[in-house]
Amino acid sequence: MIKLPLMIGIFLLPLVAQADGFSAAAGEEFWNRTFVDTGSGQERRCASCHTSDPRQGGKHAKTGKPIAPMAPSVNPERLTDNRKIAKWFKRNCKWTLGRECTPREQGDLLAFLRSR
Ligand code: HEC
Repeated sequence: MIKLPLMIGIFLLPLVAQADGFSAAAGEEFWNRTFVDTGSGQERRCASCHTSDPRQGGKHAKTGKPIAPMAPSVNPERLTDNRKIAKWFKRNCKWTLGRECTPREQGDLLAFLRSR
């Protein structure tokens, strides 16, 4: 009988993990969502510099400099260095949204990018 709670726990774990987990679909929606910069009235998206397909190379919206693809499937160096990820999340979210991304937004975005 001691095994019953354990079995229920094992059964429930995937459900809980899913409820807690991040969504690649939400991340994709966020990646393409348009934010309007209050100062300039300019429309900004993650996709402005990275394009809507992370497997494609992007182009910096301000400087025109090329940006290598974000998807680990075509660019295995991507999303391997947590400090780099945190640094660019901070900078790019501030530029795009006018604020930092929340932990949920970051998790959804990473789930989206890692799925590509
Ligand atoms: C103004 C242009 C621009 C916008 C808009 C932009 N990025 Fe970036 N992003 C860059 C540049 C430049 C780099 C660093 C150059 C590189 O690594 O190729 C970078 C790098 C990153 C990285 C680092 C990935 C790694 O492991 O190498 C992540 C993650 C990232 N961007 C996510 C985002 C997200 C999420 C958004 C939207 C909130 C966004 N970016 C919007 C220009 C931009």
